[in-house]
Amino acid sequence: MRPLNDWDSWVSSRLDRLSNRGLMRRIRPADRTGPRTVWSEGRDLVNFSSNDYLGLSQHPAVLAGAQRDLGKGAGATASRLMVGTDFDYQALENAVAFFKGTEAALVFGSGYLANIGAIPALVGRDDSVFSDRLNHASIVDGIRLSGARVYRYRHNDTQDLERMLREAGGGGRRLIVTETLFGMDGDLAPLTTIVELKNRYGAALMIDEAHAVGVLGPQGRGVAHLLGVDGDVDVQMGTFSKAFGSYGGYVATKSQWAQLILNSARSFVYTTALPPAVVGGVGAALEVAMAADYLRDRLNELSGMFRDGLAEMGLGSPDSVAQILPVVLGDPAKVLDAGRRLEELGVLAVPVRPPTVPQGGARLRFSVCATHTEQDVAGALDALKTVLSGAGAP
Ligand SMILES: Cc1ncc(COP(=O)(O)O)c(C=O)c1O
Repeated sequence: MRPLNDWDSWVSSRLDRLSNRGLMRRIRPADRTGPRTVWSEGRDLVNFSSNDYLGLSQHPAVLAGAQRDLGKGAGATASRLMVGTDFDYQALENAVAFFKGTEAALVFGSGYLANIGAIPALVGRDDSVFSDRLNHASIVDGIRLSGARVYRYRHNDTQDLERMLREAGGGGRRLIVTETLFGMDGDLAPLTTIVELKNRYGAALMIDEAHAVGVLGPQGRGVAHLLGVDGDVDVQMGTFSKAFGSYGGYVATKSQWAQLILNSARSFVYTTALPPAVVGGVGAALEVAMAADYLRDRLNELSGMFRDGLAEMGLGSPDSVAQILPVVLGDPAKVLDAGRRLEELGVLAVPVRPPTVPQGGARLRFSVCATHTEQDVAGALDALKTVLSGAGAP
């Protein structure tokens, strides 16, 4: 039998390795002090790291929805298949299906759980999944759990996707999966071409609208609706944890597909349902989000201002079209250092390093929210200029 300190030395060597490569993560203490600021390590910081894109996590109607349903109990007490479904849960699923224009919707405990449950419910060992190389970890994990053969096409490269669809041959079913607004790059998937390919090669298409829902498209319905291809998408997945300011995930699809997912997605069947207060908050957030063109306009305006400011500095990505604005510096140590110095200047833009982004792609990821002010954006741009010119060095 191996002695326990073998384990201890393995753990500490793993940690040393992460630390030496500038890849160690830690959870920072950070108290929210308002819709756009956090108090962390002795400083008030303007938060450009949050995904609360519309500021709904603090919206009075959303808080009231959560408070109302808190009276039903602190927890859901079991899986929905064990204790049944509360009326509000069903109302939320009907509302999501209406919002997405699908026959049915199924609510999961989180977006992560939706992806790792829905993908293995739809494909298995004899099937093939075609996945954008920059897809989120929850998609990657869902594919792994399915056991399907995976073809990872170059990011947003529909020629590469088509080549793979052609070369994959005819055995089994085929599923294409892509994010629509990419969470770390802020660019859009070429969904119209992907839909053409899906139809040409007899594949199904699942999209992850985690960062787009609430933000893009009419009433915030997402990129598929923006481009008018939603009718050709088989599964629209999304989360309530970003623009809806709350928690939970969903898939919207045809009734029978939802029925199959309900029966076989392990992350639906074998986990406790969302607490009533979360369901109440999400239901209210959906209503607010659909009517919130003024917040989307504001977000768009502030994101444009930030994007233009970055471009003037020769920074940012020309492909980033929405509220997610990456500044890629490449080296993890450099990004950590820049993040630290930005904090000294009152700005929080958390460094994102591999494996969240590809090797060589470490970056500061700025996410603009509708609750920011013009001064916040101007201040962040000034701080970034100072930091990157080296003048912010202590
Ligand atoms: C593209 C994408 N999909 C899925 C998820 C998971 O969503 P959730 O945070 O609700 O688990 C995220 C969130 O980090 C994401 O960025």
